[in-house]
Amino acid sequence: MSKKLKIGLFGFGCVGQGLYHVLNNSTGFKADIIKIAVKDKNKTRTVGSDLITYDKWEILNNPEIDVVVELIDDAEEAFHIVSEALRRGKHVVTANKKLLATHLEELYCLQKENNVSLLYEASACGSIPIIRSLEEYFDNEELEKVSGIFNGTSNYILSKTINEKLSYGEALKQAQEKGFAETDPTNDVEGFDPKFKAIIIALHAFGLIIKPENVLNIGITTLDEHDIRYASEKGYKIKLTPVIQRLEGNQVSVFVAPRFIKEQDQLFNVENEFNGVVVEGKFSGEQFLQGRGAGSLPTGAAVLSDISALSHGYRYEFKKYLQKNAPVFTNDVLVHLYIRYNREEDLNHLFFDEVNEKYTGSTYHYIVGKINLKKIIEAREFILTHNLFIALVDEKVTLDRTVNNKEIVEELQMVG
Ligand code: HSE
Repeated sequence: MSKKLKIGLFGFGCVGQGLYHVLNNSTGFKADIIKIAVKDKNKTRTVGSDLITYDKWEILNNPEIDVVVELIDDAEEAFHIVSEALRRGKHVVTANKKLLATHLEELYCLQKENNVSLLYEASACGSIPIIRSLEEYFDNEELEKVSGIFNGTSNYILSKTINEKLSYGEALKQAQEKGFAETDPTNDVEGFDPKFKAIIIALHAFGLIIKPENVLNIGITTLDEHDIRYASEKGYKIKLTPVIQRLEGNQVSVFVAPRFIKEQDQLFNVENEFNGVVVEGKFSGEQFLQGRGAGSLPTGAAVLSDISALSHGYRYEFKKYLQKNAPVFTNDVLVHLYIRYNREEDLNHLFFDEVNEKYTGSTYHYIVGKINLKKIIEAREFILTHNLFIALVDEKVTLDRTVNNKEIVEELQMVG
């Protein structure tokens, strides 16, 4: 029989209030929030003052509390709270993707050493049950790729500016008012938030722990009307898409960049704050999950689902991480890109391996071709500060054989 859990909640912002509402209106599952720790003493709260505390130790040191739910903004403070909770033998549920992506290994060790559960379904793609699907359903299958739209705010902005001709500022304001955007929306529009989510997903899909600083993220901040026109003339939409792809030689590539999406693509009609995840298995083929990727209630519902799972003693098994032949991360891949540039000299920063198309107009120039991802990583600052726009023409990446290491070549020779 499942036990009625006692919860100590950290944070009462958008997601915290969403959880409170979902929990109080849930007919199928009951748990008690017995304390809520918040920071700002001047904010008016919608719950009784007896529930509120400004002292984190009131929750962490309360033996009655079985579960700490961490929904605050500050990733470093969240790491402190979550670590202390795990060390005290409390289960933890968190939606904090930055916390997870930047401390995955330490958190994995802490939950293991203290024999407690750390669940975080709400951290990646809101209400889409992607982590549990990877953990439970795809745990046995070798996956080829996981890609999609992992950020509601940037997708909302792209939908509103391109389809409805809203200004960028107005679309962002709406995304903030609706509770989709991060406190600092740079995380959304520059692709940091979907990168953190991709890192979490890469652990459960491929058994990899990757450091965020090694993963490229380029967002939508430099998109302009030329790029929009280029895409629409070809019948494409533009979406910000993380790609996590297995390559030959047991290697995996992970990065986040805008992409031109064709009409037949599953992601073509994923609009506004919706997210979409495409999982490609070796045997199962392609699966597509779509749902609300941001927002108070959908994210609150994902947190509640973790709390409910805890009441049945659920823990992630991290099977792929523990497997002996876990893949290795690489950035030595060729990506097929469109790059809009401003001056011919800009191309001195971009070393294409192959150029398929080049257009030089009076005010608009672009080049399409294949380039090593590491060259884009090196040119990232230049691209952003000089207002260049890049978009993947094709989602599939290939190993860069000109630089790839000896072992892979040998392995391929053996296979061949
Ligand atoms: N800011 C995030 C988004 C919230 O827009 O997707 C959900 O993680």
